[in-house]
Amino acid sequence: MKKVVAIFGSPRAGGNSDALLNYAIHGAMASGAEVEKIVIRDLQIAPCNSCGGCFEKGECVILDDMQQVYFRLVNTDGIIVASPIYFMGVSAQLKALIDRCQAFWARKYILHLPVREGARTANGFLIATAARSTSEELFTGAVKTIKAFFHVLDTKYAGDLLCCGLEERGAVSMKHDLLQKAFDAGKQLLTR
Ligand SMILES: Cc1cc2nc3c(=O)[nH]c(=O)nc-3n(C[C@H](O)[C@H](O)[C@H](O)COP(=O)(O)O)c2cc1C
Repeated sequence: MKKVVAIFGSPRAGGNSDALLNYAIHGAMASGAEVEKIVIRDLQIAPCNSCGGCFEKGECVILDDMQQVYFRLVNTDGIIVASPIYFMGVSAQLKALIDRCQAFWARKYILHLPVREGARTANGFLIATAARSTSEELFTGAVKTIKAFFHVLDTKYAGDLLCCGLEERGAVSMKHDLLQKAFDAGKQLLTR
């Protein structure tokens, strides 16, 4: 069975990115994939401290909940990331997880070791929500960060759903077009 990892990056439960991610999860499940949701705010993930420990073996030396996330990130066929826009970027919780993927960067570019088993690759999708009503430049930072994150994981940036004008917790619940797009994105993720 194909696997999809859904990474939930907002500290706000039941918010806009949560709702969209849940629709994408249902879409992925409808396509026959097994989906695992990673709720970052429930995990203890310290930020990278740039100790260089991962340069030795391509493994992070910080022993916290990130250790259980590493395996999931490279043993999956698809990754869906959902985050609110915070000060023009992704949430701090998500950024901490991404920065800890410096261990994969070290594997690839210093130790010249594979990041994934065999020739396995994955498809990745970004869902981002923001309050501002105009999207100009609003998602540029987050898209660049997620592209770099997917790149280090040998994961193709297969698309995104970038939603502006969503401020309050339940704002997206009335936006049936966006919820449908999220469902479709999840359903089509592994065929993109
Ligand atoms: C700390 C913080 C920073 C934010 N920065 C921005 C921003 O730069 N631009 C924007 O349009 N909205 C910003 N917002 C609003 C959120 O992106 C918006 O409410 C989003 O829909 C929240 O998603 P969530 O409900 O999934 O948590 C910010 C909110 C917070 C709490």
